[in-house]
Amino acid sequence: MDASTVADALSALRAHAGRSDAPRVADLFKADPGRFARFSVAFDDLLFDFSRHRVDATTLRLLVALARAADLEGRRAELFSGAAVNGTERRAALHMALRNLSGAPMRAQGEDVDAIVAAERARLLDFAQGVREGAIRAASGARFTDVVNFGIGGSDLGPAMAARALSPFVADGLKLHFVANVDGADIADALKGVALETTLFVVCSKTFTTLETMTNAASARARLVAALGEAAVADHFCAVSTQLDRVAAFGVRPDRVFGFWDWVGGRYSIWSAIGLSLAIGIGRDNFKDFLRGGEDVDRHFQEAPLERNIPALMGLIGVLCRNALGFPTHAVIPYDQRLVRFPAYLQQLDMESNGKSVGRDGRRVRLDTAPVVWGEPGTNGQHAFFQLLHQGTQIVPVDFLVAARPIAADERHHELLFANCLAQAQALTQGRGIEEVARQLEAQGMAPQEAAMLAPHKVFEGDRPSSTLLYGSLTPRTLGRLIALYEHKVFTQGVIWNVNTFDQWGVELGKELAVKLAPLVADADAPLDGLDSSTAGLIAAARARR
Ligand code: F6P
Repeated sequence: MDASTVADALSALRAHAGRSDAPRVADLFKADPGRFARFSVAFDDLLFDFSRHRVDATTLRLLVALARAADLEGRRAELFSGAAVNGTERRAALHMALRNLSGAPMRAQGEDVDAIVAAERARLLDFAQGVREGAIRAASGARFTDVVNFGIGGSDLGPAMAARALSPFVADGLKLHFVANVDGADIADALKGVALETTLFVVCSKTFTTLETMTNAASARARLVAALGEAAVADHFCAVSTQLDRVAAFGVRPDRVFGFWDWVGGRYSIWSAIGLSLAIGIGRDNFKDFLRGGEDVDRHFQEAPLERNIPALMGLIGVLCRNALGFPTHAVIPYDQRLVRFPAYLQQLDMESNGKSVGRDGRRVRLDTAPVVWGEPGTNGQHAFFQLLHQGTQIVPVDFLVAARPIAADERHHELLFANCLAQAQALTQGRGIEEVARQLEAQGMAPQEAAMLAPHKVFEGDRPSSTLLYGSLTPRTLGRLIALYEHKVFTQGVIWNVNTFDQWGVELGKELAVKLAPLVADADAPLDGLDSSTAGLIAAARARR
């Protein structure tokens, strides 16, 4: 990649997208009845509509030119080749190998990984199915009724999000719980009313050193031992990690330990044994379908031309919004209550991957990188923050996600949900001008003076961009597809911004400082010298209040 070619491509994009006489998207719709067909891409029962963005044929051409200037196709090939694309950690980023059910050869830094992946997946799914069907039981011989997952970040957000998303597929009589925070309230609330005698604990940590997870796992272990005795640990604990020696030291019996590999990043690990709790809940076949969804998208991302390549387009449109139009945040609004945790999942995926200010070359980047990603399900958001989306001073590009058909939910409710999703996208595009507002107020019989006062408050500027991802229904395969689409979107953007999408050094400093501060918090007499006055003042104030 030549930085000046990328800069030129971006300048051309900025010049076109930012020109003062750029038409409003609502006018583009009026002028071109074929706009939806031109600016949407179908992939099986999934449809990506980006016609509500500020794009025309030239924008699309310039975006693809930008992708080529950054060598997206070459970098994509490098990613799938298993080369060490995570340069600062000298690792591949080959999470795609975990969902490679077709068995196409995959190598991580030259090492063939298909066989080890398939073998570990088979062990995992046998175990998961055994728990689900009651063949694997608690120490007392009773069936497990509850599964408690300990993990944080990628070892929590993926399985927790997916378990909620796929709740209709979770076996009756099984409850899945997710405990992440070191705040003791998290585990206390999760275990309230849960019978330890029929609970399986799943400790998930890639490194098996993470403070939160280790603290929660140790607390649960102590509680289990107090209630059922040391011998019960063997039946009630299992673990997932890349660090098998550390797991052994914790005392999990070897056949209850499931591994994965350092070429799987935490936020990309839902496809690995980190998905164990999910697999127990939804079972072997559904879990495989979930993997198949990811695999579908890997194929599409590698094979579809850039102009029709959904994750590439999602990434490029994000670059248009971020770097050419200057929008600092990005909202993800699923009109799908079971995707309630999807925005939080995407926050880690996107912001931990591309929230960087140093490029792969070690220099300060010249472009803004990841936007702030946020969101909540619709319709709830409509009654909360949508005011800002429609009338705030910042423009927030939105991804709407919605199913054509509900699963285990009322059809009539779904019609209303769907209509609301369409209405919000429409309102953001078309807005409502002052003349229309004035006409409306007049028609309501409002006095002219009062109407003139009220009218500006009722104006919607419109021309606010959104994409819509429509899918058949939220099945395991669909969920796999949605996650993989966003993974490759994030990869695409990392290529344009030339950052290492697969490291996360920015999480380290806070962890180090917390380790130093913990003893000062625990010991009421420890001297607070050398701390900045805010830290010292807050510790002292907390001590005084205890
Ligand atoms: O602190 C950030 C992070 O390292 C994430 O990248 C990761 O998903 C999370 O912590 C949990 O890490 P682990 O799985 O090693 O416990």
